[in-house]
Amino acid sequence: MSTNALVRIEAVRRVFFRRDTEQLALDAVSLEIASGSFVCIVGPSGCGKSTLLNMIAGLIAPTSGRITNAGTLVDGPRLNVGYLTQKDTLLPWRDVLRNVEMPLEIRKVPTAERVRKARDLIEVVGLRGRERAYPRELSGGMARRASLARLLIADPDLLLLDEPFSALDAQLRQEMQNELLRLWGGSGKTVIFVTHDLEEAIALGDRVVVLGERGRIVRDEQIGLERPRDVVAIRRRPEFHAIEARLWDALAAHYRPEPAPS
Ligand SMILES: Nc1ncnc2c1ncn2[C@@H]1O[C@H](COP(=O)(O)OP(=O)(O)OP(=O)(O)O)[C@@H](O)[C@H]1O
Ligand SMILES: [Mg+2]
Repeated sequence: MSTNALVRIEAVRRVFFRRDTEQLALDAVSLEIASGSFVCIVGPSGCGKSTLLNMIAGLIAPTSGRITNAGTLVDGPRLNVGYLTQKDTLLPWRDVLRNVEMPLEIRKVPTAERVRKARDLIEVVGLRGRERAYPRELSGGMARRASLARLLIADPDLLLLDEPFSALDAQLRQEMQNELLRLWGGSGKTVIFVTHDLEEAIALGDRVVVLGERGRIVRDEQIGLERPRDVVAIRRRPEFHAIEARLWDALAAHYRPEPAPS
């Protein structure tokens, strides 16, 4: 067991009940996330990635096993953990600015300060000019970026990101990836980033964990590519392609997405 683990996932199982039948979503998953690291999790649809994040965030409990964060049992949500869920949760009756500043409002930060910070982050995620737009007026990618700004404003120590950039076009995606790396670099924050996109995982992560069915870890690889990184330049490196080929083989060998419910 490493000493600098922030999050420890110990033999976690999670069962869901569907029409009176038990469904094992995660089976005995054990994983340690080092403090300050950027860990990417990839795996086929239905393998339990979001379920795992929900448990790390303290939104649902493991059926058995346990998760600790900074040495204490996760038994509910925490203020210093930011979670960008797979589905957006912007409040429809608040515009972008009011959504983004909300975490600071809850903390009773004075209006001028929270508006300034919200505007800065809206700029960072490329939404300047959309401050007064309501969620229904945003594209999927814009809503995603507004959610990200709302998460960042709370300045969490641990960021759980569930496919944050999958709704973005390739160009914007690369910009946001670089922006995230820039914000994370030297911050000491820990990031757990779920994606379907292996290239994205390698370009961003210190480590890529490939999950198979029921969250079984089929590959866990340290990514030794240099930092700071530019996600466009790093993809052109020969080492990048070697890592990608290895991980792709692991993913393909275990690619068994769960069948759609009948
Ligand atoms: N609240 C729930 N009730 C019942 N079953 C659930 C629930 N949440 C998840 N599941 C089931 O648990 C399994 C894992 O789901 P999960 O959402 O964690 O997968 P995922 O890896 O995030 O998939 P995707 O890549 O499609 O987002 C699936 O079989 C899913 O149907
Ligand atoms: Mg998911």
